[in-house]
Amino acid sequence: MTTAGTEIQASEAGPVGPACVMVIFGASGDLAKRKLIPAIYNLAKRNLLPREFAIVGVAREEMSTDGFRHKFRSEIQEFATASIESDIWEWIEQRLYYLSGDFDNPQIYNLLGDSLAHADKQHGTQGNYLFYLATAPSFFSRIIQQLGVAGLTHEKDGCWRRVIVEKPFGRDLESARSLNEEILQVLHERQIYRIDHYLGKETVQNILAFRFGNGIFEPIWNRRYIDHVQITASETVGVEQRGGYYEGSGALRDMVPNHLFQLVTLIAMEPPLSFDADPVRNEQAKILHAIPQLTPEEVLHRCVRGQYEEGKMDGVQVPGYRTEPGIASDSNTESFVAFKLNIDNWRWADVPFYIRTGKRLAKRITEIAIQFRRAPFMPFRKTAVEKLTPNLLVLRIHPDEGISLRFGAKVPGPVVRLGAVDMAFEYADYFGCTVSTGYERLLYDCMCGDAALFQRADMVEAGWRVVTSVLDVWKALPPRSFPNYPAGTWGPPESDQLLERDGRHWRLNDE
Ligand code: BG6
Repeated sequence: MTTAGTEIQASEAGPVGPACVMVIFGASGDLAKRKLIPAIYNLAKRNLLPREFAIVGVAREEMSTDGFRHKFRSEIQEFATASIESDIWEWIEQRLYYLSGDFDNPQIYNLLGDSLAHADKQHGTQGNYLFYLATAPSFFSRIIQQLGVAGLTHEKDGCWRRVIVEKPFGRDLESARSLNEEILQVLHERQIYRIDHYLGKETVQNILAFRFGNGIFEPIWNRRYIDHVQITASETVGVEQRGGYYEGSGALRDMVPNHLFQLVTLIAMEPPLSFDADPVRNEQAKILHAIPQLTPEEVLHRCVRGQYEEGKMDGVQVPGYRTEPGIASDSNTESFVAFKLNIDNWRWADVPFYIRTGKRLAKRITEIAIQFRRAPFMPFRKTAVEKLTPNLLVLRIHPDEGISLRFGAKVPGPVVRLGAVDMAFEYADYFGCTVSTGYERLLYDCMCGDAALFQRADMVEAGWRVVTSVLDVWKALPPRSFPNYPAGTWGPPESDQLLERDGRHWRLNDE
């Protein structure tokens, strides 16, 4: 690549966010220590947090505010994405408060009201509250109901009240609908921020910049030029310590209606009228509605599920899914899913989107590969047709974030032969490595009232509508071949056959 990137100046990080208190329900849990507090630190370091700011942690664990401050003082050293500057950390620490109590106990919400009033007085936070539900999903609706009863979600005198709801948002269409109904009895849609941490990733946000900030790709971004799209989110880790959650969820629920459908919509959506929340989300929602529900026959034909057995990863023997902690020895939960979906609209009719995700796979990679159609006529007789690689655009989300374009070039020599070459852009070369947790932008946007990177009720339901059609069939027909792929491979053979039947193959399996 040329040095054009040197002309790009580091832009201003942005205006300081508005005065507010962030309330973290589940503050003694993993998410707070691994992501939320480190993200708050990064925002403070980039001068994006207002001076009028405070955090109130709420959790069942008995702890004093002093104990809470002490806990994060040591944990931030472990989980921060960069070294800690003591003056910035002290500034945050002086704004940390803690309340212990049961989320179902109305009393805790009265005490929370007192703490918030205290924060408003002490730190000038002006009655603006951001409630972050970092709890088990069964508490989402109950906490919101209680906040409503305590009058803490009521926006009055120009102040705002917003709630960030973590995933999973429901476990099928019906439960997602009920959750939406329940929380919409208390909150307006504009107060609800359904978070998907994939949208906090710079490289995911860059899909929009790439597509709509450049004039050259949009004219070929359709069924006339694109043969198919492959999306892979493969992990090398197993279920780790999350067996309790994962066993009741499985790969499909865990990754598809949220993270992978976000990627699908960003790739497939029409240009929005602006980057404001609703224009963007309207276009994403249209794509989700254009994905047809699968019939039982289609589920059997187009959806593959898998579960890993023991195997070798980097030469080390690892256990199978059924012997992981918290997993039943006869578990039928899938740790892998691959399927083919269509988007029934004018732009994408007949262009398959192949999607796969799983644990204990051969490599840790998240990428979107867009394969273009072959040139209509190939006058290169000296190159075997199967060697003429079609143009391929790869958007790499993780690791080695970047974009590459594959095209054919003449192999030097007296005869004309083609070889495939890659033109590659890597983020790190141009913009350095951004050290972030991925939650900074999402927290900041919520404080600023920008919901563009959060899911709306209709989007969540549209995603579940498709996924539920698969879940129903899988539930009725338990898998007969589990476990069906060794750890360290690319999943069960049916996943390869899914593409082979269409004369295609997973590109990463060859690398
Ligand atoms: C989470 C899933 O939402 O996303 C995990 O629950 C998964 O199972 C994780 O490992 C993947 O996210 P990332 O950012 O590591 O690709």
